[in-house]
Amino acid sequence: MQRTLLIYESKYGATEKIVKYLAPVLGPANYCTTDQFKDSYRDFDFIVIGSPVYSGKLDPEIYNFIENNREWLNDKPLALFSVSLSPEDGMNNLDEISGNIKNTVSKKALGGTLKLSAMTEEDSKALDIFSQQVGFPLKDMDNFNLEEVTSYALELKEIKENLIPPAPQREEFIDKFLTSHNTCTLSTSYQNRVRSTPIEYNYFNGFIYLLSEGGEKFANLPLNNQVSVAVYEDYTGFNNLAGMQITGTSEIISEDTPEYEDVLRMKGLKIDFIKRNPVKMNMIKITISKVEFLYSEFKKLGYEAKQIQNFKKLNFNH
Ligand SMILES: Cc1cc2nc3c(=O)[nH]c(=O)nc-3n(C[C@H](O)[C@H](O)[C@H](O)COP(=O)(O)O)c2cc1C
Repeated sequence: MQRTLLIYESKYGATEKIVKYLAPVLGPANYCTTDQFKDSYRDFDFIVIGSPVYSGKLDPEIYNFIENNREWLNDKPLALFSVSLSPEDGMNNLDEISGNIKNTVSKKALGGTLKLSAMTEEDSKALDIFSQQVGFPLKDMDNFNLEEVTSYALELKEIKENLIPPAPQREEFIDKFLTSHNTCTLSTSYQNRVRSTPIEYNYFNGFIYLLSEGGEKFANLPLNNQVSVAVYEDYTGFNNLAGMQITGTSEIISEDTPEYEDVLRMKGLKIDFIKRNPVKMNMIKITISKVEFLYSEFKKLGYEAKQIQNFKKLNFNH
């Protein structure tokens, strides 16, 4: 499994707080400050370095760390982020250090916080001088933005996923898994309303079809057609993992369309029988945009156990 290491410094806690939001999204992951770094961490596959900005510069320990570890860092995909009140102050520094490291795959300036009462005397003085020089307003400030941080976490997750060497057979395995199972968990949502539904599915022409008498999911789908579908086997052991998370968009297939009839036929259902049914049968079609497949078989073949497949809309290869 691709592992992520986050290395950071944080005198007043904002950068550390951000690291603690990023790490679980990027898991399997670990984090440490520069003095907690261990040589064994060099085995991690994706490195993220986060630094606060003090008086226009990154934390000195971050510069030292990069200087002293340049050799192995040059071989790793590296993401850099800064935490500061002014995004420009962060980005200017990130631009500068990324010029000296080989594989910088992402740079981000995130918002920090300033609480004057928490400041050491030395920092208060430094901040006072600096604020006079650059016209920095000296007051408590909070530019930390959790939505910005979680979006960044997802950006990094996507970068990390693109680093996974693809197993050539992954599409066949995905097809096989979806055709050899018949029950999924469909998740729909609209604002605070979240619904997970265990439901039988059919995988047909690269689409997922669901037939349902009704229920709360139909209150969410017209308002938000984004869905997530999970298909998985019971856990039997760490060497036997099989679970798929699908991201897609949904649409309701009207009962007077040829597609509705095709799907019923494929399911072996008599069209007249369904149409004569005293209650309506509602059909949902899911167009798959992304499959994340954790499957131990990939590992047995020498590939990453978690394989990611992105699909262009309506371009599923069948
Ligand atoms: C001494 C000092 C100097 C600072 N200088 C800058 C600065 O030059 N530019 C800026 O945007 N923010 C500046 N800040 C704000 C910090 O970047 C912000 O407080 C950040 O959240 C600190 O991260 P930390 O909580 O992880 O230590 C400064 C803060 C201190 C304490």
